[in-house]
Amino acid sequence: MSLLLRGGRVLDPAGSVDRTADLLVEDGRIARVEPGLDAPAGCRVIEVAGRIVAPGLIDPHVHLREPGQEHKEDLETGTRAAAAGGFTTVCCMPNTKPVNDCRAVTESIVRRAREVGAARVCPIGAITKGSAGEVLADFDEMRAAGAVAFSDDGRCVMNAAVMRRALERARALGLPVSQHCQDEHLARQAVAHESAVAARAGLVGEPAAAESVIVARDLELVELTGARYHVAHVSAAASVRLVRDAKRRGLPVTAEVTPHHLTLTDEAIASGDTSTRVNPPLRGADDRDALWEGLADGTLDCIATDHAPHSPAEKEGGLGAAAPGLVGLETALALGLRLVAAGVLPLARLIAAMTVAPAGAFGLPGGTLAPGAPADVVVIDPDRLWTVTPAALHSKSKNTPFAGWELRGKAVLTLCGGTLTHEEA
Ligand code: DOR
Repeated sequence: MSLLLRGGRVLDPAGSVDRTADLLVEDGRIARVEPGLDAPAGCRVIEVAGRIVAPGLIDPHVHLREPGQEHKEDLETGTRAAAAGGFTTVCCMPNTKPVNDCRAVTESIVRRAREVGAARVCPIGAITKGSAGEVLADFDEMRAAGAVAFSDDGRCVMNAAVMRRALERARALGLPVSQHCQDEHLARQAVAHESAVAARAGLVGEPAAAESVIVARDLELVELTGARYHVAHVSAAASVRLVRDAKRRGLPVTAEVTPHHLTLTDEAIASGDTSTRVNPPLRGADDRDALWEGLADGTLDCIATDHAPHSPAEKEGGLGAAAPGLVGLETALALGLRLVAAGVLPLARLIAAMTVAPAGAFGLPGGTLAPGAPADVVVIDPDRLWTVTPAALHSKSKNTPFAGWELRGKAVLTLCGGTLTHEEA
């Protein structure tokens, strides 16, 4: 099958491309990107003038809940949500039931995703068995089965000696370790960021230092081991400073930030909406401003949704009782475009943070429109106005704090390996 996307604004930060051109897909690959291409016989032509043609988006941090918690999400619904959001590759965290800490679970995720997935699924294996923080999981086996990185996400590896060994093992394999940086003692029983907002709501808060003390410790271990290290969902200004400094010193560190930490502050929890309970918590405006700066200057390499579906029952009982997390795959792009419209960062930087940057940090396929690359492509209508309607989300779970928000910009067509995974008029 061949497909010609005609007359769009081709934006491919990997190749420093930003121009009006046609993009021809043949046999699942990008064949040519040039103005004025003729459509080969039998080729479907789609007019995309006024739209942005970019590499398919890549999310280095999602929770797809399969195996074991399919009442929240599964590989089919999670990847459909991904495709609808413009994503062609997602990295799924190992806090499934059972935890993805061995070859059999990694293999089953890869196999199921191939059968039912609407996006490429790259599993992240657990750092420790059961993500219990004590005994290292078998990295070699998980890598052989398709793991692209290791993380105990949802929990922090608190034991520095265990973290050191994990970094050494990952370094031997050339894969990154993604840390959920949160000192469990500083964060004990916390529901929110430690601030006046939390105090007024009667909620236990954790200081931003709960995150940054672990970032600081781990960067020492990166210096010791030389391993590739990735900071998951950065939320604190101090963490941004530490990562910026580490990069200046040449350490192999990358970092991600979520659309919700870029968009909301702790003020949002005052609504009592349990979708605003998330881990790490929404922080103050100073932290949010530092995230903006860090994303714009490249200190924070990637945008990651931390898509964390939960059922209504798990989000009941008020902020203190609700499970932390929110669904993010279908709102990420529009929230990013909102930051571009507000002048926080240029469009090309946003697209880079959602394509070539995560591809580079995790060694993933895609992230480029170079001829010969797999045809992982998103077409974005930058002017499309739409209202976030939980019932209309493809995800099985509807826990979004953005319900009712009117957003501008939407993925209107997604191609994964040349196959249409999402199309709307
Ligand atoms: O809010 C969160 N939810 N943060 C995490 O780190 C884990 C995630 C989940 O699995 O629900």
